[in-house]
Formats: sequence, C-alpha cells, structure tokens
Amino acid sequence: MFRKLLVTFMMIFVINLAFISNPSVSIAQVSGEVPGKTLGLKSDADLWRYIRTGNAGSTQMKDELSAVMIQSEGDNWRAIRNGPVSLYGGLGLLGIIGLLFAFYMYRGKIKVETGLAGQTILRFAAIDRFAHWLMAGSFVLLALTGLNLIYGKYVLLPIFGPEIFTAITIGGKYIHNYLAFSFMLGLALAFILWVRHNIPSKIDWEWLKMGGGIFKAGMHPPAKKFNAGQKMIFWITMIGGLSVSMSGIALMFPFQTTMFADTFALLNVLGLNLPTDLTALQEQQYNQVWHGIVSLGLMIMIIAHIYIGSVGMEGAIDAMNSGEVDRNWAKEHHNLWVKEMDEKKKSNPEPAE
Ligand code: HEM
Repeated sequence: MFRKLLVTFMMIFVINLAFISNPSVSIAQVSGEVPGKTLGLKSDADLWRYIRTGNAGSTQMKDELSAVMIQSEGDNWRAIRNGPVSLYGGLGLLGIIGLLFAFYMYRGKIKVETGLAGQTILRFAAIDRFAHWLMAGSFVLLALTGLNLIYGKYVLLPIFGPEIFTAITIGGKYIHNYLAFSFMLGLALAFILWVRHNIPSKIDWEWLKMGGGIFKAGMHPPAKKFNAGQKMIFWITMIGGLSVSMSGIALMFPFQTTMFADTFALLNVLGLNLPTDLTALQEQQYNQVWHGIVSLGLMIMIIAHIYIGSVGMEGAIDAMNSGEVDRNWAKEHHNLWVKEMDEKKKSNPEPAE
C-alpha cells in the first residue's frame, strides 16, 4: 500500500516537474495544439488513443490492472447497469405485481371445487420442505439485499438518510455474501430431490394446451407430481440459480475467472462474433451485468410462484407447511400423482413418499 502511494506520488511529482520545466506544454494546451509536438515514432495522438481505448502499459506495481489508465468499457458498463438493467428490471417487477393483481381481480382465489375432503395425502417429506425453505428463505433475503444495491439509493436513501442507509447497505452486503452459500445448498438439494419428477413428458403438452386450467373454473388438466408450469419453474430456477451463483462467486472473488471469454468462444462456434480477448476488468463487468439481469428475471418469475403457492390457490401452501395436502386438492391439480400414490400404497402398505 505504502509502496503504491510512493510510486503514485513520484509519478505526479515527475509529471508536474516536466510541466514546470517546459511551460510551452501548458501554452500549447491553451492554444489547442497537441502537447509535446512529438515527431518520434509515435505521435501524441497515437499515444492518447492507445490509452483511451483501454490498452495496458507497463507498471512497477504488482497489480496488472493498474497498468490500464483509462477503461472506457467502464462507462458502457455503468450506463447499462444504471440504464436498461435498472429500468426494465424495475418495470418487470412492477409489471408482474400489476398482472397478478389483475389476475386476482378476474379469477379470485382458485378454490378446491369439490370442497375439502378432510383427508390428507403426504406431498412433501421433511427433507423436501427443508430444501425448499432453505432455497426460498435465502433467495428472498438475497433478492431484497440485491434490490437495495440497485434501487436503494432512489428508494431508501431519501426516506432514511445517509447514515441509516449506509448501515442497511453494509449489513445487506454481508447478508448477501453469506446467504449466497445457503441458497446454493438449498438449490443443489432441491435439484437432487426433485429432478426425477421434472423430466418433460407428453402429458405436459396437454396441460399447456389447457392453459394449466387456471383461467376457468372446472378445468383440470392432467398432471403427475409436478405439472408443466411447475416443471418450467423448476428448470428456470435451477439453470438461472446456477448461473446467478457462478457469476456471484466470480464477483466475490474478482479477476479470477474467464467464464465470459470461454462462453463467448463456445458461442462463436455457432457463427457469432463475440469478443473473446476480454481483460480481467471486462470479465468482471460482464459478470456484474449478467448477475443483475438473471437475478431480476428470477425475481419476476418467483413473485408469480409465491402468489400461486400462497394467496392465489386454496390449499397449495399446505404442501410446503405440513407437507400434507387435502386429497381433493391433490385430485384436482395432480390427478395422475394421486393415482400413482394410491397404487403404491396398495402394493406396499408403508407410506411411499
Ligand atoms: C417465499 C414464498 C414461497 C412460497 C409461499 C412458496 C410456495 C411453494 C409451494 C406451496 C410449493 C409446492 C407446490 C406444490 O405442492 O405443487 C412450492 C414449490 C416450489 N418452490 Fe416455492 N414458494 C416460495 C418461494 C420460493 C422461492 C424463492 C423459490 C426459488 C428460489 C421457490 C422454488 C420452488 C420450486 C422450484 C418448487 C417446485 C416446483 C413448483 O412447485 O413450482 N419457491 N413453493
């Protein structure tokens, strides 16, 4: 640190000395001439263009990133993050809340049409519920602390003022960094437990053609343990969750990965022309923007999931609370799964799942 400061100080001192001993440089600047009047191998214009386009020089410092004086992509990164990512992410979040509200007004709470049977069937064992709530609980906290990093300065700062906002943000950063690992654990566990129920099948097509039966009363498309909508949520959560985890780790341990250069190289095989000679800083910028886009997309989808799993559908939340769901609920939403369970029970009196 002291060494870096000393080198920086020396550089500033030498540059100032050069300007003082050569007053024509500052005069040239005022009169609009290119300073230096170089007639050597490289003109000043070439030199400044080289620096302006983010090229690295050589440095005495150990940190190779400090050899880049101007990193123009930083401007682009900032403009994308504070521009379209924040704007469309925010619109998406508000949009889904508005849509769900409109859907609730139109359809109300989806009831168990045949009435509650009063008899239950085990849908999720304790380990399933543990995996779900580990993943869900950490996701919600990661989402809130992540949203603060994008929108906090517009929403919370004016309300709480700089001191409280700083405390919230620093605390949020720790929550975000540490809970990332419990999210990954929950995600991995849910994947292991549920992947076999989420393999696409022909029945899913039936379910999709009937719009999942959620728009009209009396429509109950066939489904096994998970219907087509849930399978989509499962795969998007798994793939998006993995992607957000990998880019998050790259943000936590910066300048160590080449994931974007490697992915771009793979995509270029398909005929794309993406840049593959990314600097460590550019990798980091891609990681950050990607982390933001994927997590905002996941949040938008998960808000809809939370709605249908709680206020939107009678009886659904029991599956993740006690694990026991009403038999009539199960017959209406997962008829083939109930059949399967009944057959298993007949051939094996032990509770199957
Ligand atoms: C915080 C509020 C949440 C509630 C009330 C909730 C509710 C539920 C319920 C009731 C189920 C079982 C549905 C069934 O029986 O078929 C379920 C399943 C599931 N949940 Fe959640 N959940 C929440 C948050 C989350 C979050 C944050 C994630 C992911 C990050 C998530 C991912 C899943 C997945 C992948 C499934 C299995 C597939 C599916 O049913 O869609 N949940 N959730």
